[in-house]
Amino acid sequence: MVKSAVKVFVRFRPSGIPPDGVEVLPDGKSVIVEVRKKESSGVVNNNRERLSFKFDGIIQNTSQEAVFTECAEDVVSRVLNGYNGTIFAYGQTGSGKTYTMVGENMIFHLRGIIPRSLHYVFREIDLRTDREVIVRVSYLEIYGEVLCDLLSDDPASGENLAIVEQAGVTKVKGLTKRIARSEEEALTYFFEGEANRSVGPHILNETSSRSHCIFTIHLECKLNDHPSEKVTVSKLNLVDLAGSERVKKTMTSGDMLKEAMTINKSLTFLEQAVNALSKGHSHVSFRQTKLTAVLKDALGGNCRTVMIACAWTETPYLEETMTTLKFAQRVRALTTYAVVNEKSDPATMIRRYERQIADLKQELAMRDTLTGRGRIPYDDPTDVERHELGNKIRAYLNGEANVDIVPIETLKQIKECFRQFREAHVLLLADLKKEVAERRASVTETEGLSGSPTEGGQAAGEESGGESLVGEVDPDPKLGIDVGQAPANARPSQPDGSADPLHPSSGDDNQTSAAENKDDRDSAAWETETARKNVFLTQYKKHVPDGKTLDETLKNCLVKLREKRHAIKEIINSVNQSKRSIDELRESLDAKREERLNNRTPRTVEAEMIDEEEFEMAKKLKALKVSYRQGFNVIKTLRAELQTLAEEAAECRNNLVVGFNTWYEAQRSAVKSEQPGQEDASSPEDNIHGDPSSNLLPEQLVLQRMNHDDPEMAVFEAAKKLMSRNMRRGGLSSSYQNEKMRFGARTRYH
Ligand SMILES: Nc1ncnc2c1ncn2[C@@H]1O[C@H](COP(=O)(O)OP(=O)(O)OP(=O)(O)O)[C@@H](O)[C@H]1O
Ligand SMILES: [Mg+2]
Repeated sequence: MVKSAVKVFVRFRPSGIPPDGVEVLPDGKSVIVEVRKKESSGVVNNNRERLSFKFDGIIQNTSQEAVFTECAEDVVSRVLNGYNGTIFAYGQTGSGKTYTMVGENMIFHLRGIIPRSLHYVFREIDLRTDREVIVRVSYLEIYGEVLCDLLSDDPASGENLAIVEQAGVTKVKGLTKRIARSEEEALTYFFEGEANRSVGPHILNETSSRSHCIFTIHLECKLNDHPSEKVTVSKLNLVDLAGSERVKKTMTSGDMLKEAMTINKSLTFLEQAVNALSKGHSHVSFRQTKLTAVLKDALGGNCRTVMIACAWTETPYLEETMTTLKFAQRVRALTTYAVVNEKSDPATMIRRYERQIADLKQELAMRDTLTGRGRIPYDDPTDVERHELGNKIRAYLNGEANVDIVPIETLKQIKECFRQFREAHVLLLADLKKEVAERRASVTETEGLSGSPTEGGQAAGEESGGESLVGEVDPDPKLGIDVGQAPANARPSQPDGSADPLHPSSGDDNQTSAAENKDDRDSAAWETETARKNVFLTQYKKHVPDGKTLDETLKNCLVKLREKRHAIKEIINSVNQSKRSIDELRESLDAKREERLNNRTPRTVEAEMIDEEEFEMAKKLKALKVSYRQGFNVIKTLRAELQTLAEEAAECRNNLVVGFNTWYEAQRSAVKSEQPGQEDASSPEDNIHGDPSSNLLPEQLVLQRMNHDDPEMAVFEAAKKLMSRNMRRGGLSSSYQNEKMRFGARTRYH
């Protein structure tokens, strides 16, 4: 690390008028400035301020070449040795900063430090044949607080620039760096950038810089035939600042006045940073402006720095000259810490690793020979080898060969095997998924969505040699239809009719558990789909006119069915009661008859005569039997009617299921083929209550329902949907982007 003070030179602009108040001492480094206080206010004031300054050099009436040699050459040569360098010109407007850094009107002998530095760099590169140097150049403009890439083809590219700090070095991320293979190429880029700079005229300077500009030469240097993969990287920042202005003196207005104020502000921040640094403050805020952020290294970091303070000697500007010199004096107190910047050269590293790999391969081959393993292929398998390995793996998986067929001689082979196993696994999963989907589709087609109707009831017990009890009526059927239950046989089976392929009874355990997991996932998906359909079935019955009609018809039918069942049940109860009474009465009558016959022996005609009680019992029994037969016939009739009603209900249910399926599939297809602009379709409410075949999406239907229940939730859901659609369409709107670009361009180029 080289610790060094910032070098400061003062360059006085030549003047036709003999200097009054500025005295350069014979050592060529010291200057005394004497200025009347408040002179600028026009008030006669005999108080004088007399200050002496000492710098690294005072330049007066000196050629551009001599300025380069005295101020810049040392820094530029160090940049070629791997150190970062900065040369910046500072001073009042019109004092000669641009003249110093850039030169005059592209006149060769009046060219400034930037073109001369380029010349020096390329000349040195030609001379230093022991190294390979890559030169890149960049040109950054700070206009107000906007960064602009002067070498970019896109004027709006500044939007992407950002000042970042990496490993203690400040960089401008996103800045174009052009590779320059020759001085000519580098100069061309420099001139191109110059043409893009912001310049404007005012009283003190016809071509006043309205921005701070930083031309940077980036070097990447590698010694030829050197075993190390290290390369040195360094950069030379050549900074032409905009000048401070007393707006009264420059008489600027409008945009130029705003520019002047922004320039003065950023220079004030620069002064504050320098003040803080020179006083040794531990925290200095470089981030206040882009200018201080960019110059951070130059003022106290990894850099060798030279400042050229440009000033006027004419009396009217002595106050500004004094200010400039005071600032220059403080800058001279700053210290920087430059180091040679090294990094690894990827190309050299690759070459080194290639050599190592070749050595290791040789070593392996030698060991294989010594252990009698023959020639083992350590390279990546060729396509043919991969194909052969795939055949072997398939043979093993199909049970046609045992595991020994799979070669495991090298790590690469093992990895390739695993890769191919995974490939086979993925294919198998895809096949299974496809098969499950196909079977499910065919099951849905054949089974329909609902369970089969169960009405109809059990047939009444047939009369068997007399009165018998009649059968119970079936419990009430369900009043709705069920789309949620997958029939037990809905699970796909093997094509050959064997067990479910997802539940093999024997075979590889891993395959079994993988299949079970898949089965679980499929079941869950099936249940989700069923639940979803149930939700939409409810909506269909409630809000789609066709669905409403079909549902009402079915309900009416089922009500009738239930009433009929109830009636049958009542009669069955009464008939059965008659039967039990018949049985009891018959038993009592038989007992009475038995008794009568036993008591009257021998059996006579009188003995055959029955008493009053027995007569009444016989009469009642006969009536009961008549009633039983009548009731039985009524049940038969009612059951026939019940059967008809059950068939009607089944038909109604079927109509509802078919109607719903048709509607549901139409909605699903509509969702799948959703196109931009579909959201402009007629409102969901219209679709629900209007044409049932209209293009109402299930999601819209749900949204519509939610809106009824909780409007806030509906808004939230709608916003979510809109957001995801916008994301799909590519983020921010193009008009916003265009506006941003227009704004950027406006703020940079007036
Ligand atoms: N040392 C010099 N020798 C000859 N001419 C000079 C010298 N310094 C400045 N000039 C002339 O003065 C004018 C203003 O100089 P320049 O544009 O370099 O000022 P500046 O400090 O860059 O001003 P601004 O801050 O407004 O950009 C130019 O026309 C330039 O030719
Ligand atoms: Mg200038």
